[in-house]
Formats: sequence, structure tokens, C-alpha cells
Amino acid sequence: KKVGVIMGGVSSEYEVSLNTGREMLKHLDRSKYEGVPVVIHSREELVDAVKGLDFALLALHGAYGEDGTVQGTLETLGIPYSGSGVLASSLCMDKHLSKTIIRSKGVHTPDWLCLDRMEDLSPEAVEALGYPVMVKPNSGGSSIGMTKVNSSAELRSAVEKAFAADCSVLIEEYTEGREITCPILGGTLLPVIGIRSLGADWFDYSAKYELGGAEERVIQLPAELEARVHAAALACYQALKCTVYARVDMLVKDGIPYALEVNTLPGMTETSLLPRSALAAGYTFSGLLDEIISGSLA
Ligand code: DAL
Ligand code: MG
Repeated sequence: KKVGVIMGGVSSEYEVSLNTGREMLKHLDRSKYEGVPVVIHSREELVDAVKGLDFALLALHGAYGEDGTVQGTLETLGIPYSGSGVLASSLCMDKHLSKTIIRSKGVHTPDWLCLDRMEDLSPEAVEALGYPVMVKPNSGGSSIGMTKVNSSAELRSAVEKAFAADCSVLIEEYTEGREITCPILGGTLLPVIGIRSLGADWFDYSAKYELGGAEERVIQLPAELEARVHAAALACYQALKCTVYARVDMLVKDGIPYALEVNTLPGMTETSLLPRSALAAGYTFSGLLDEIISGSLA
């Protein structure tokens, strides 16, 4: 089977994607698959680059890759690909829509405002949400373009920065709590990982990707909380129609899990969380890729 590892792309997470792709290529079982690196730098390149592949293993992150567009192209070309389909990919890429849906299913998520234009910014509405707030590009990833805003004086520039990265911006209540993530494989939860950013005040880009940027380890939650976390993570996965695998990022405050977002193509770099959790569940990186490929073909 000729498996193309599709990486690069046109989003701000280009570098992260190359790192995910490299790790995937390194671990793809050579006795089963012929791994072909497919680095793309523009939208136009994709169609020619995937011709002749038996399977597209997606190492893309963010816009045009994780958002359903590439998935739609591959559907049209009849090339099977890894992970969630078009709808789940697009829904999860839109934080405002995915938060609306998961809240409607009874899952907690921090309060938020969503702006489509700078003129819609209402300092009073943000005041009502309460400082600090997190300002994020609505469809961003890897914390790029994101700012923790402590007071109204810092608000406007943070919103401008997020608008530079996206056409809509999320202003989310800051939840002081324990940061955890719940990887899911084939509809089953993998071990929960607890995150403690070192040096940074929150889990920003460098905390995510620099070696030693954060302490991330499998944690054992008290049984009752664990059950709540599992139920919330699965409810998000199902409500957003995810398939094969995903990673639900959450914060726990006062024993309540708050879902922040669902990543349909979670990072698989050397410092990423999903492979680490899978390892604790007994999957080597190669075994994890096998599961993803077979799950996607099922
Ligand atoms: N957006 C990055 C790649 C992640 O969720 O892991
Ligand atoms: Mg993300």
C-alpha cells in the first residue's frame, strides 16, 4: 500500500505539521506500507501530489488540512484518508460552532463571545465576561495568535492580533483550573494527560513544542472525576461527529471538566500528547498509526 504522508500546508501550523509528518514517516511500518512524503505548500499542489496514492495519512494541521477542505478533495478524488470526515473536521475547526454544539449537549465550556468584525468589540460585554480572558483566532491552532488578556487596556491589541490570523475571533472566559487532554482512538478513551506549563503562564506555543516547555504526563484522576471527564470527552467526540481519533482539550475547575476544543488532527510531533497517551495504553507509535489507518479504512 502506497501511503502518502501529507504535510506542510498553508496554515500557520506549517512547521508543526512538518514535525508531525516526520514522526509519522519515521514510525510507519515499512513491512506493511510504502511511506511517501508529500509536502505541500499551496492549495493547487494537492490534487497532483496525491495522484496514485492508496491512502492519504494526514499530517496537516489547521486551515486547509484539518478543516474539511482537504478531506472533501480526497473524497472527490476517491482516495481514502485518515481521521474524521468533512463535517466533523469543519465543525471542530470552528471553536464558536463546536462550543455551541457541545454546550447544547450539556457539556461545560467556558463562556465566550465571538466577533466577526473589529467593530463588534464591546468592552462592556468583555467586562461582563470578567477578566482575564483568552483571545483566540476562532479557527486557530497551537495557540498561534492567542493572548491572555488581564485588563481592558490590553484588549484591543489582542483582538487585533487574533483578527490578523483569522476572520473571526473568540473571547473566552479564562478558567483557572487544571489543564488536561483526552485522546480518543476508535471511540475509546486513551489515558488522560495532565499538563503543567513550565515558565509560561499558560500552555502557549513554546510550552507546547519546546522540549521541557511543559510537564505532560498520564494522570490518574479520582474515580468520580475521571468518569465525568470521560463522559464529557466522549460526548464532545460524538456530538461533533468525529471518527477514528481526536483529542479533546479540557480544563478542570472545582471538579467540573470544561471542554475547550476538539482537535481532529491532533499533533503527532515528538512532544505531542496523543502518542504519549497511546504509549501508556500499550500502543507503539507504529501500532497507533496502524490503528488510525485501519480505523479510517473500516
Ligand atoms: N493543533 C495542534 C497540532 C494540536 O492540537 O496538537
Ligand atoms: Mg487545537
